[in-house]
Amino acid sequence: MRPGQQILINGASGGVGTFAVQVGKWLGAEVTAVCRARNVELVTSLGADHVIDYTRDDFTRDAGRYDVVFDLVGNHSLTRLRRALKPGGTVLISGGGVSTGGSLIGPMGLAIRAMLVAPLVRRHRILTVDARPGPENLATLRELAEAGTLVPIIDRTYELGEVPDAIRYVEDEHARAKVVIVV
Ligand SMILES: NC(=O)c1ccc[n+]([C@@H]2O[C@H](COP(=O)([O-])OP(=O)(O)OC[C@H]3O[C@@H](n4cnc5c(N)ncnc54)[C@H](OP(=O)(O)O)[C@@H]3O)[C@@H](O)[C@H]2O)c1
Repeated sequence: MRPGQQILINGASGGVGTFAVQVGKWLGAEVTAVCRARNVELVTSLGADHVIDYTRDDFTRDAGRYDVVFDLVGNHSLTRLRRALKPGGTVLISGGGVSTGGSLIGPMGLAIRAMLVAPLVRRHRILTVDARPGPENLATLRELAEAGTLVPIIDRTYELGEVPDAIRYVEDEHARAKVVIVV
C-alpha cells in the first residue's frame, strides 16, 4: 500500500484484523475497520480512522471507495467485495471465515472462487492471502512490536488444561482479538 490509500478491513476486531489495522496505519493508509458496535473503541484505539458497524451498515454499498478491501470474514460475495473497490483496487481474501451459505467446501469457497476468477478480471486485482513465514518478515514484525507500533491484543488467557474452555469461548462467545493458551 502507498501512504494515503484507503484500506477497508472486514473483521478488524479479530485475531488477524487487530494486526491488520495496525500494519495498515504503519504503512500510512487511511484505515476503515468493520466490526460490531462493542468493538468500535478497540479498533479506534489501534488507529482505525473510520469504523463501520456491520450490524447497521453494509460497506459493500459504498461503491468505488477503497484501494484495498481485506476480507477476513467471508460473509460477502466477491462481486459485492469488488463493488467497494476503486478502479484498479485490490481485494485480498483470507481463505476462511463464515460460509456464505450451503457450500460443500464451506468458507473456503470464496477463496477458491477468487483464485479461479482472478486471471479473468482486468478492472481489479484479486489476491488470496499467502502467508510466508520467514526471517525478514519476522524481523520487521519484531521491530514493530519492540517499538510499540504493533501491540498484540489479548482477550483472555487459559491454561493448557483449559483448552476446551478456550475453544468454546472463541466459538460461542465471539472472542475479540487473541485468546492465549499458556504452555
Ligand atoms: N490465509 C491465512 O494465512 C490465514 C491466517 C490466519 C487466519 N486466516 C483466516 O482469516 C480469518 C480471520 O481470522 P481471525 O483469527 O482474525 O478470526 P476471528 O478472530 O474469529 O475474527 C473474526 C472477525 O470477524 C468478525 N465477524 C464475525 N462474524 C461476523 C459477521 N457475521 N459479519 C461481519 N463480521 C463478522 C468479527 O467481528 P466482531 O467480533 O466485532 O463481531 C471479528 O472481527 C479466518 O477465516 C481465518 O481462517 C487466514
